Amino acid sequence: MRQSIESTADLLAALDRGESLPARWYTDPSITERELESIFRHSWNYVGPLAELAKTGDYITGHAGNVPVVVVRNDKGLAGFVNVCRHRRHLVMKGRGNATVMQCPYHAWTYDLAGRLRRAPRAASESGFALADFPLLPIRAEALGPFVFVNLDRTAPTAQSCYGPVLDIIAKSGVDLATIELHTRNDWKARANWKAMLENYLECYHCAVAHPGFSAAIDVRPDVYTLASHGWFSSQAGRVKPSALEGRSKADLYDVRGEVAESQYHFLWPNLTININPGFPNLSVDVWRPDGPNATRGFSEQFFAPGVDEGFAQSLIAFNKQVAQEDDDLTDSVQRGLVGGLPDRGRFLTNSERLVIDFQRMVVRALGGASPV
Ligand SMILES: [Fe+2]
Repeated sequence: MRQSIESTADLLAALDRGESLPARWYTDPSITERELESIFRHSWNYVGPLAELAKTGDYITGHAGNVPVVVVRNDKGLAGFVNVCRHRRHLVMKGRGNATVMQCPYHAWTYDLAGRLRRAPRAASESGFALADFPLLPIRAEALGPFVFVNLDRTAPTAQSCYGPVLDIIAKSGVDLATIELHTRNDWKARANWKAMLENYLECYHCAVAHPGFSAAIDVRPDVYTLASHGWFSSQAGRVKPSALEGRSKADLYDVRGEVAESQYHFLWPNLTININPGFPNLSVDVWRPDGPNATRGFSEQFFAPGVDEGFAQSLIAFNKQVAQEDDDLTDSVQRGLVGGLPDRGRFLTNSERLVIDFQRMVVRALGGASPV
């Protein structure tokens, strides 16, 4: 594969002119490797809800990029580790739950909740072997509101300092982050580069064209639908349409009436999105991880305020799935367009797509070795 010939300065200058990243950035495995190293090993990666780490021994597993991680609550608080055994590198913990120790299922090397190796069968007869030399590798874990993140970079700014203000914006929507409850969680795969998928998320220029149901619920006109860049995160917001509230929509919609009248769509660098739709208080998150250059793996979690009506919950989940399917169809097609490498650059509309341009700037700076913000 041809090596990168574009300098960071050239790429940023092209973005300033409204020219996108080259097509190769979406199809070259060496770019994905650089992203995993330069972005995902130095950023906050969302793992799961704090409510699942309420009691000592509660744990959740996930990924920071392609690195398996586990977060556990021990007697000192939250503790994060690389979820890989120091012995033969089998994954230690699976899924989520409660445990008194962290035991690798391969050869039963057993770590305590502080990550210290406490027992390794037959190790007593191994000369020069000290249990103390092989703790699980510790990583940072931090709760922000109801969300738990990990970061493999000891020197990165705190999650609070990067994303703290997003909690205040969400609070204004009518969703109470202190009381929302996880309703459903699911893993998914998609056939597009992770950046192509997030870039689609970061503009609503396509909404009126490609999301008939969404645009029947939300006013997506550019003078009403707002885009705001906040450094480490960005926010889109739109009002619920009066026609939807009054049941005059042509589309078959969920019941958009309720405490939340403003929809919000937040992107937290590098790969977490948080969605709030009109109606009964609801919030969903998506995490998007590269799975090679041409595919993405992720998971979705749907939260509601306590006491949600199950019929409403299912209709909102169906609405979100419909929008996600429409987006997947778009980004699948974009990926097929990128694979051939022609045209090499796309051309943005620099106002409606400014959050996409900001995202690409962050990617370029990170891969150039600088701070993305
Ligand atoms: Fe979309």
